[in-house]
Amino acid sequence: MGGGSRRTGVCSSVAELVGQTPLLDLSGLLGGGRLRVLAKLEMCNPAGSAKDRPALAMLQQALADGRVHPGGVVVESSSGNLGVALAQHCRLLGLRLVCVIDPRTSPTTRRLIEAYGGEVVQVDRPDPVTGDWLQARLDTVRRIVEATPGAWWPNQYANADNPAAHRTGAMKEVVDALGGAPRALFIATSSTGTLVGSQRYLRDHGHPTEVVAVDAAGSVLFGGSRGTRLLPGFGAGVVPPLAGQAAPEDVVRVDDIACVVGCRRVARGASLLVGASAGGVVEAFLSVRDDFRAGDTVVLLFHDGGERYLDTVFDDAWVETHLGLTPALLTALLEAADAQLVA
Ligand SMILES: Cc1ncc(COP(=O)(O)O)c(C=O)c1O
Repeated sequence: MGGGSRRTGVCSSVAELVGQTPLLDLSGLLGGGRLRVLAKLEMCNPAGSAKDRPALAMLQQALADGRVHPGGVVVESSSGNLGVALAQHCRLLGLRLVCVIDPRTSPTTRRLIEAYGGEVVQVDRPDPVTGDWLQARLDTVRRIVEATPGAWWPNQYANADNPAAHRTGAMKEVVDALGGAPRALFIATSSTGTLVGSQRYLRDHGHPTEVVAVDAAGSVLFGGSRGTRLLPGFGAGVVPPLAGQAAPEDVVRVDDIACVVGCRRVARGASLLVGASAGGVVEAFLSVRDDFRAGDTVVLLFHDGGERYLDTVFDDAWVETHLGLTPALLTALLEAADAQLVA
């Protein structure tokens, strides 16, 4: 069994399993016979997403410099993945977690947080002024922190340890594995921590890799205008402080339907279940694929896996009810997309 970059030794703690995620070659499916296309599988982190990296880093750093103490309470807003990762690492580090979610968080994600011992608070209505769920979650976090002795808010949207974890994370692993930097890197964005950290690593080491931000249609990042988004995890309804440090060479926006098509395409073509933002990254890449030169290596960062989306992206009834795509239409779209890939 080719182990690739995966560890095969014995680890003494789940924390040691964070990082060293594998790269999967999807050139046959996505490369059009011209490009090398590799997916960085962040779902292979122990809590199932790229968010393991910043969760662990933010907690370790805060414990080290006394912003939180063993037995203290961590309060954070998350639409899912950060919450699961924090729940796992809080338990390991002897901290309590209160995670503020909104109704877009999948029931599975909520149950994962609870299974790790985290407490979940769900906001029931969006911010009355902006109509935004993130704003509503942040207001609730502030209220809980004020009312809870020993509480600490990591604030992934402004915490420098979030991008710092990515600066020494996925991108370094990619460059080490390839023996050089790829021509381009596609990253889905929300807090922008993954993008800011990855880009910093590339620039610090003089790599000219083009960094492409993949944002959700309806997200206000990078000058986007607010709109309805149903899938959790990527895009933002409020511009986070970290976004000021993000300087992608290009921004590609994808809607919920594109995310579903991308996820189904990877499931059919590579037998791999990926999460909504990864589906969006695939479609974003394909929309600009012709811009790359033959022989270029392109890396797509897949933030999480598809199991957390069985009730949405991979549920035909949900797709039909919420996105107006009947199973027949979806199949037709996928077949058209497959034909276009080969053409
Ligand atoms: C599935 C998924 N994709 C993309 C992102 C965006 O990552 P970042 O917050 O580092 O911009 C997140 C963040 O939570 C996520 O959960």
